[in-house]
Amino acid sequence: MRAADIADQLSTVLVTEEQIHDKLGELAARVEADYAGKDLLLIGVLKGAVMVMADFSRKLRRDVVIDWMAVSSYGAGTKSSGVVQIRKDLDTDLTGKHVLIVEDIIDSGLTLSWLLENFASRGAASIEILALLRKPEAAKVEIDCRYVGFDIPTDFVVGYGLDYDERFRNLRGVAVLAPHVYS
Ligand code: PRP
Repeated sequence: MRAADIADQLSTVLVTEEQIHDKLGELAARVEADYAGKDLLLIGVLKGAVMVMADFSRKLRRDVVIDWMAVSSYGAGTKSSGVVQIRKDLDTDLTGKHVLIVEDIIDSGLTLSWLLENFASRGAASIEILALLRKPEAAKVEIDCRYVGFDIPTDFVVGYGLDYDERFRNLRGVAVLAPHVYS
């Protein structure tokens, strides 16, 4: 769906579908150059990264392997603890692999902080991050993200994989949710 289809439930569109596709094209060109001559394993973090993985990976003019991981924080409301539980592990052995983690958003940074440590312990040759969105003002830990799409404010955003209560992931762009939807 497009923002116009649910205009009454959104405050503002932050990033349009076209802007996302242009940016993913730029990032894909950088990734192609940086990983020339190397095998590349893309790891998507479910569920939010589904859209960015689908579009980014298809912009690459080279072959990659794609794997998925699903994680969740322990207990309700404890996301800030940074303790992560694996709900679906990788199918791939990371030993000696060049890994690019593909994420929809870096918020506090706690999920990626944990994933970086976890993947490093599995013997990856290199680990970098691509995130479509980043909220710099929400950072609780500094994450060294090599490929960033857009820095955005700390508003409650939905779309392009990002949800509110599992809804709105299928919005084509990224938009700020209208407060009346969640209050
Ligand atoms: C979101 C997003 C990242 C994480 C970022 O996932 O996809 O994985 O939060 O937040 P952080 O930087 O504060 O750790 P979420 O846990 O909402 O699950 P989902 O992808 O299934 O929506």
